[in-house]
Amino acid sequence: MKGIILAGGRGSRLFPVTSVVSKQLLPVYDKPMVYYPLSVLILAGIKEILLISTPKDITKYEELLGNGNKWGIEIKYKAQKEPKGIAEAFILGKNFIGKDSVCLILGDNIFYGIDFSKQLEEVVNRTPYENKATIFGYKVKDPNRYGVIEFDSNGDALSIEEKPKIPKSDKAVVGLYFYPNEVVEIAKTIKPSNRGELEITAINQYFLKNKKLKVETLGREFTWLDTGTHESLLKASQFIETIEKRQGLKVGCLEEVSFRKGYITLNKLLENAEKLNGTSYGEYLLELYLNNKTS
Ligand code: DAU
Repeated sequence: MKGIILAGGRGSRLFPVTSVVSKQLLPVYDKPMVYYPLSVLILAGIKEILLISTPKDITKYEELLGNGNKWGIEIKYKAQKEPKGIAEAFILGKNFIGKDSVCLILGDNIFYGIDFSKQLEEVVNRTPYENKATIFGYKVKDPNRYGVIEFDSNGDALSIEEKPKIPKSDKAVVGLYFYPNEVVEIAKTIKPSNRGELEITAINQYFLKNKKLKVETLGREFTWLDTGTHESLLKASQFIETIEKRQGLKVGCLEEVSFRKGYITLNKLLENAEKLNGTSYGEYLLELYLNNKTS
């Protein structure tokens, strides 16, 4: 399975903060926002990744993440000329996706939960065989800001609407989507919505209508944060700080995740740590190296 991180858009809700800096490069506590969705793809076992951003910002991402070699993965880049909608990712990513299934993650979504990687690996493994898409629902207080899923009494999805004025449930669709290869063709058939965007919700509606959509629920023990407003961005930083300080473990640390997945060796971990010598992030990596060297 291939992975796509969508990290473009205007970021206009965060102006003037994002007037010259891409939103997904802003810090969420101690690392750039894009680290968090990238760590989710690595956790899912996805090693070939395409990052899409604006023509202006794409070189910044290349500077920050490079070709992915330091984490044992492969990152490619593609510019999106205009923010024409989330579903355009599959049109822009057509050649990259090739004949594979694909996972799309929004660059401004943060996920934190126990056993998440196991859940993700299962979806990654089954998607190409079952030929079905998987999306995730999460209970929120303000569903009208999101895609919203309506369920019947058996818990099966009945409908999905994008930012409905009167939501039919309190379950929002999170910004993490798994699709069989067919999505590339479906994306070409989607028409722009009233707000002029190729909506990811239109893609999900297609899969639902054709009985090819699985909806999994992320429970209350799980944390899903978005960073669309100044307040939610600050809250996300505070959340990560609280967990990291309490546990002494980092969230979204790419070197750690790729080391634990077996994508990089202990020596490569040390090499990464040495490059960040003198920083608290580098010290964390060094400690991780030392703990694993002796164990
Ligand atoms: O966060 C989950 C929600 O994401 C879903 O519940 C909604 O169904 C989905 O439409 C989306 O809603 P948003 O209002 O958050 O979408 P937004 O336009 O803010 O775009 C999400 C991210 O994708 C944002 O960081 C910018 C990036 N983006 C967006 C568009 C439309 C792009 O890179 N290119 C684009 O063309």
